[in-house]
Parts: sequence; structure tokens; C-alpha cells
Amino acid sequence: MASRATVERGAPTVPFVDLRKLHSGISELLESAYHRVVSEGSFTLGVELEHFERLFSAYIGVGDAVGVGSGTDALHFALRAVGVGPGDEVITAVNTFAATAEAILMAGARPVFVDADDDTLLIDIDAVEAAITDRTRAIIPVHLYGQPVDMVRLMAIARRAGVKVIEDACQAHGARCGSFRVGGLGDAGCFSFYPSKNLGALGDGGIVTTDDPAIAARIRSLRSHGEDESRLHIEPGYCSRLHGLQAAFLAEKLPYLEHWNEQRMQTASLYDDLLSSAGVILPGRAEGVSHVFHLYPVRLPERDRVRAELATKGIQTGIHYPVPLHLEPAFADLGYARGDFPVAEKAAVSMVSLPMYPFLEYDTVVRVAEAVAEAVR
Ligand SMILES: Cc1ncc(COP(=O)(O)O)c(C=O)c1O
Repeated sequence: MASRATVERGAPTVPFVDLRKLHSGISELLESAYHRVVSEGSFTLGVELEHFERLFSAYIGVGDAVGVGSGTDALHFALRAVGVGPGDEVITAVNTFAATAEAILMAGARPVFVDADDDTLLIDIDAVEAAITDRTRAIIPVHLYGQPVDMVRLMAIARRAGVKVIEDACQAHGARCGSFRVGGLGDAGCFSFYPSKNLGALGDGGIVTTDDPAIAARIRSLRSHGEDESRLHIEPGYCSRLHGLQAAFLAEKLPYLEHWNEQRMQTASLYDDLLSSAGVILPGRAEGVSHVFHLYPVRLPERDRVRAELATKGIQTGIHYPVPLHLEPAFADLGYARGDFPVAEKAAVSMVSLPMYPFLEYDTVVRVAEAVAEAVR
């Protein structure tokens, strides 16, 4: 990021994410939710959480939803609930946020990485099929940047192989695959409510969606010290519940999600138009899915120089992700090497995510696109 001194004078900064307008527009709702929770005292496992779980499961179109402390814990608990444990392999994308692989390790299993499709940067489904062994217990497709993986194809492969599917929908609240929302297509769907997500809490949070009552019950137990309904401790569990206050805020925000996603899609279309002849690779769109553009990453030459130039114009950008997981120190023990995942490795050095959030003004998008085109020229 550019320091104050290096930003050109007079140009207001364009933040990478700015949630102030989004929140100021609903501040009265958020304040009344706060007062309600405080007067009820429903801070943990209370009516607010149950209410939001019902709202969110209905929105996704599944039988149940279980609120937990983070998207990472959602993935970890979902893996455990479908029976993943030590000795198992779980196949996932190499180009995802570290949490996807961390959750696999937390469940005691081994992450098996596969490369991305060069157009969409979504997990390469042919590579998933090729990676299945008799130790494979589950697959985690990641609906990366807000774009759904082809779940019809992936589920057919998984069912044939007898393996479970946990959707990592942490970046894709509200996205659809055909007419179904992500999170309702696998055995379980996992969402993060990190504040900058398409649906974000005012702190950390996560949720698991599922149609399987046994999966929901196991996660309800794991999130709260391994207790069953009679409060007997069945197994050592965790303290990782979606807080009542966050659930109340999320219940107020959920009705706006479609509108906010629409705005993201409009911004993405505008970037697409403005950058179509700028010499950058635009985000690839898959067939038959709706992409909710949590992020808008483009690929271009001399990425670091372009980023630095944008920074001097006050335009903040991100990289998602700068290091593919097989080259991260945290996963070195898995034994992968540079060159193992050429698509992800190439993307990591050429991509830059442009500012993307609801209420991003038309003029600002034009300013960003012009600055990108100028820097690439
Ligand atoms: C793809 C993906 N998976 C998992 C997570 C983990 O979510 P959390 O930060 O809520 O633990 C994130 C959040 O950044 C994510 O983007």
C-alpha cells in the first residue's frame, strides 16, 4: 500500500474494501439489534442465534444451519461431522485461502492439493478426479472469488467414488449453481462472516449449512464442548459458537444481501467493459452459474509495478493469493515442490484484485480502470 506521502496530491484514496456506506445505511437496524440482544441477554446459543440459523438455512434452501465461530471452524467441524479423521485424504484447491487447508489438518487429515482451471481459476475438476485414491474421504471445492464450482459434475464424481463433499462457500454467499444456492449442493456448506465477506458480521463468525440432521447435530455438539442435548459431554469439543450479537446483526443484514450482490455484479460488468481492451486477463466466467464477485482479480504483466503505480494514485489493491498453498511454509511438510501446480503458480505472480464492494461509485470504478489501463500500457 502507498503511504500517505507517496499518494499523488488531491486524489482521494480508493480503498480496497470500504463498508462504511453499507453500514451507515442500516445503522438504526444494527443499533436496535444491539439493544434487543442486551435486553434479552441472548449472548450465546439463544433465540437470536436460532432465529438467524432458521433465516440462513431458508435462504440457502437447506434443512438446517449451525452457527459457529468462524469459517475455518465451519470447515473443520463439517469435515469431522462427515467422518474425516487421521489417515484420510481430503482433496482441495491449491489456490485458496490458507484456512481451507488448515481445517483439513485440524481434522487430522492430509490435504491433497489440485491445480486450478486456467480460465476461471476454480478447482480443476479433471484434476480432482485424477487425485482420488482409496484414502480420499472428502473433497472441498472452493467457490473462489464468489464464483461457484460446477457442482453437478463434481457431485457426480464424488458420489461415484463414495466420498463426501464439503463446499467452501466462504466467498460466495448467495451465489447460484443453476437454480440452487451454493452451500446447499454438497453434504455440507461452509460460510465465513468475516466482516468484508459478501455477508459479514461485525467481527468473526461462520455457519455450516446441511440437509443431514446427523451432520447438524454433530456440529452443534462440536461447537459447544462436545455436549449433547442433555448436556452430557460426549467427546472433547470446542468453544466456537456464532455469538448472539453477531447473529442478530447478520439477521438484519441478510435481507440486503441480494441487493449488495447485484451491486457487486454491476461493478464487475463495468470493470469488464472498461478493461476489455486494456491488455489484462479478466476474471473468467463459468457457464450456468451466478458469480457474486466477492473479489475482482485481473491478471496482467508486471503486476508488482502496476500495483505500485496504482498505489501512487491512491488506489489500494489486494492479491488473492500471493503464494499458492503448496509453497507456503505452513504446508511444507506435505512435500510438494515448485512446478507442481503451474496454473496456480503463474496466477499468483500475475494477479491483482481491484477494489470491490457494494456502493463503489461509478466514477471510482472508471478511475480505477483508467489507472490500470494506463499502468499496463
Ligand atoms: C476461501 C475461504 N475459506 C475459508 C475462510 C476462513 O474463514 P474465517 O476467516 O471466517 O475463518 C476464508 C476467509 O477468509 C476464505 O476466504
